[in-house]
Amino acid sequence: MRKYIAMHYLVSLLILLLVGCADRDASPQASAATAEPAGLKDAASFPIGGAINIRRVNEDAKLRAITTTEFNSITSTNDMKMYRIAAREGQLDFARADSTVAFAEAQGMRMFGHALVWHYGLPDHIAGLQGAAMADFLTAYIDTVVNHFRGRIDGWDVVNEVLDTKGGGMRRSPFYQQLGTDYIGLAFRTARRADPDAKLFINDFGTERDTAKVTGLLALVDSLRGAGVPIDGIGLQWHQQMGDDTAVVRSTLRRAAATGLLIHVSELDLIFNTHNDEAGGGTEHVQAVTPAMLEQQAERYEALARIYRQEVPAPQQYGITFWDFTDRDTWIKGFFDMGDWPTVYDENLERKPAYFGFRRGLQ
Ligand code: G3I
Repeated sequence: MRKYIAMHYLVSLLILLLVGCADRDASPQASAATAEPAGLKDAASFPIGGAINIRRVNEDAKLRAITTTEFNSITSTNDMKMYRIAAREGQLDFARADSTVAFAEAQGMRMFGHALVWHYGLPDHIAGLQGAAMADFLTAYIDTVVNHFRGRIDGWDVVNEVLDTKGGGMRRSPFYQQLGTDYIGLAFRTARRADPDAKLFINDFGTERDTAKVTGLLALVDSLRGAGVPIDGIGLQWHQQMGDDTAVVRSTLRRAAATGLLIHVSELDLIFNTHNDEAGGGTEHVQAVTPAMLEQQAERYEALARIYRQEVPAPQQYGITFWDFTDRDTWIKGFFDMGDWPTVYDENLERKPAYFGFRRGLQ
């Protein structure tokens, strides 16, 4: 009997040792497997966002899977814009915006609001308002929209593209023509009153290459804050081109971060071709993309993620949002009327070298 017990012990010990060895052998693989982040959001220490068109996401299961895997923040590309919500005079249409917010909530994602006040595409019944009527409209619109989503939108682009396309001057939008720069303070104060917990951003483009525009933007932010306007953050769109100088990207981030405000890279993409910032204004230098070019793009994406982490202190890192994230759906091709490959997923909705480059930059 004792012999049997001793034998039994010996066998059990052997099994334990074997299992232990097997476990030790298996563990590096297992941890390597779990170390692979499921999505970009899992690789980042700050929110990673995607701009979406809710109808496309609802219709296309693969796009929806990418959206929920990669992102923990959502921006609507067009459905929260004034031209959409207030398309018809005297009524506000929240249908698509509501379904986008419901989607973000169902997925436990942060919802970002874009944009309360933007000159682009304004319907005539707004663009034609004069003087006090324009101020009254803006106040009522912002108050109603922000209240509608109160407590459900983490942050808003309160004003979008208030500066000229190039340089540091003010854009002569219908709002500016009627109210001067006062419309900006009015917009922020109204938004703050309507939802005191929402973070309020000023958002603009071109800051990765136009240093005069950066100076203008920061001077404007400074004077608004001096006047007590409640601004919480700066949105830098980052519609980048491969030829942009990363030293300028870095210095812009450093200068913006020195304000102490939240910094949101709000609309990231990266093109090979060029354009003049106007609809239809693309120049197609490049008609086909090579593996070597895709590698260069990956290196640039990696550098951009790294520069953000290096230049923006962690408490100010509001996150990085991709503006469309597949080369199939990118706005660039339609808007500028040219081919390009600006995003981290290709036309077949597969991850590109750019994806892995960006992810390396996050880690
Ligand atoms: O929905 C209509 C469709 O019914 C019609 O057949 C088609 C024909 O032109 O147009 C469709 O609307 C287009 C819409 O995108 C949806 O695709 C508009 O013409 C087009 O102007 C609109 O472009 C959007 C653009 O803003 C203007 O609002 C882009 O999708 C969107 O990516 C872009 O986003 C802006 C940010 O809000 C601010 N920063 C710059 C960024 C890029 O321009």
